Amino acid sequence: MDKKGPMTPRELVAHLDHYIIGQDDAKKAVAIAVRNRWRRQQVSGDMQEEIYPNNIIMIGPTGVGKTEIARRLSLIVDAPFVKMEATRFTEVGYVGRDVESMVRNLMDGAVNMVQNQKRAEVSEKAEELAENRILDHLLPLSDVEGMSDSREKLRERLREGLFEERKIEINLKKKDRPFIEILGAIGPEELNIDLQDTLSNLMPPSTKKKFVTVREARELFIKEESDRLIDRDELIQEAKWKTENTGIIFLDEIDKIVSEGSRSGPDVSRQGVQRDLLPLVEGTTVNTKYGPVNSEHILFISAGAFSSSSPSDLIPELQGRFPIRVEFSDLTREDFRRILVEPENSLVKQYKALFDSEGYQLEFTEDALTIIADYSKKVNEMSENIGARRLQTVMNALLEDYLFEMPDLSMTSIKINEGYVREKLDRIIQDEELTRYIL
Ligand SMILES: Nc1ncnc2c1ncn2[C@@H]1O[C@H](COP(=O)(O)OP(=O)(O)OP(=O)(O)O)[C@@H](O)[C@H]1O
Ligand SMILES: [Mg+2]
Repeated sequence: MDKKGPMTPRELVAHLDHYIIGQDDAKKAVAIAVRNRWRRQQVSGDMQEEIYPNNIIMIGPTGVGKTEIARRLSLIVDAPFVKMEATRFTEVGYVGRDVESMVRNLMDGAVNMVQNQKRAEVSEKAEELAENRILDHLLPLSDVEGMSDSREKLRERLREGLFEERKIEINLKKKDRPFIEILGAIGPEELNIDLQDTLSNLMPPSTKKKFVTVREARELFIKEESDRLIDRDELIQEAKWKTENTGIIFLDEIDKIVSEGSRSGPDVSRQGVQRDLLPLVEGTTVNTKYGPVNSEHILFISAGAFSSSSPSDLIPELQGRFPIRVEFSDLTREDFRRILVEPENSLVKQYKALFDSEGYQLEFTEDALTIIADYSKKVNEMSENIGARRLQTVMNALLEDYLFEMPDLSMTSIKINEGYVREKLDRIIQDEELTRYIL
């Protein structure tokens, strides 16, 4: 559990700045919401239970960073994260219970995260045990081959990497336990027990033999040994704490479940989804295969364009549960230019890495970048506004020839200047049809 205080809102925003350009209001809001959850942990007594998360509604056009902020945030604070389109729940065949699946997915994610972390903690011990198991297999072999090395001598040679490709036959605990569907429509997740574990505890442990190289055996043994070293109950308790107190559920397209007032047709089902979401957002206990998980302090971030509606069209109860509203601004030409270069994973950095993989060096002049941003903005205005996603289609059209010709190009240093950008893109942009298809 996190005892040292996590990042301050300022630090969080600074981290987000490494990936997202602009949208300062939104960054601020999510940073406060995340810090508030830690603050709540520090509050004692009944008051702690009274403090609810600052659930957020993000309002803004497509491709301006809504999902990106939420996703980055969860990575930065190492929080379990689930993204779901609210419209998924209006689909045919939908059952009310489905909204709870988001909490189950969140818990699954948390279990994975804690498991990886614990595996790292025991890795040294697990590696030692794995090495011993490999030696157990190698020792009799070396006898047969007349080398009769001592165990320690063999260990040395193993560490030198002399046996990596040697094949040995190993026993592994069977992983795919038989899955038994007893209850039909109700999955075992609905019950409070881990059915699979219960069943497999009743059956003798089954193993299977496998022929693998020493290299592969090491991987497999390390995994098996670390799972043996990890206390599973503790793991689940930690994952549950993580889910309940740090989990983030991102509900996309929330504006598409706003009802427009009619009493029949799709609106009924939209309102129905809002009603189904309500208990989850207010706090309910969801049964997962790891036991009950409470959703009360999970942070919900919802997002939508709200072009023909507004958050006040949501049912009042739900509005109350999303007290924070942040508006995203449309990205400017200068934002586009910065997005091309500045983020840690920017397109320019990505393409440089791709070119580098073939042994080519890719450079852009400053005016080339400005004009790429310019063209992207123009195409958004001419056809559809897809925000920063436009940069990807434009960059691809721009660099396609190089991407095709590598590694057969003779020069190894490629400089993209304004002239090249114009030459490549002017023709496309002057033809509206072509623009629609290519960009
Ligand atoms: N402000 C920004 N800074 C940096 N990159 C951005 C920004 N906005 C968008 N991007 C880039 O554009 C892509 C799409 O953005 P994102 O997924 O956040 O869109 P969105 O606002 O959630 O839109 P939608 O409503 O379509 O879901 C991101 O993966 C990111 O690469
Ligand atoms: Mg999105």
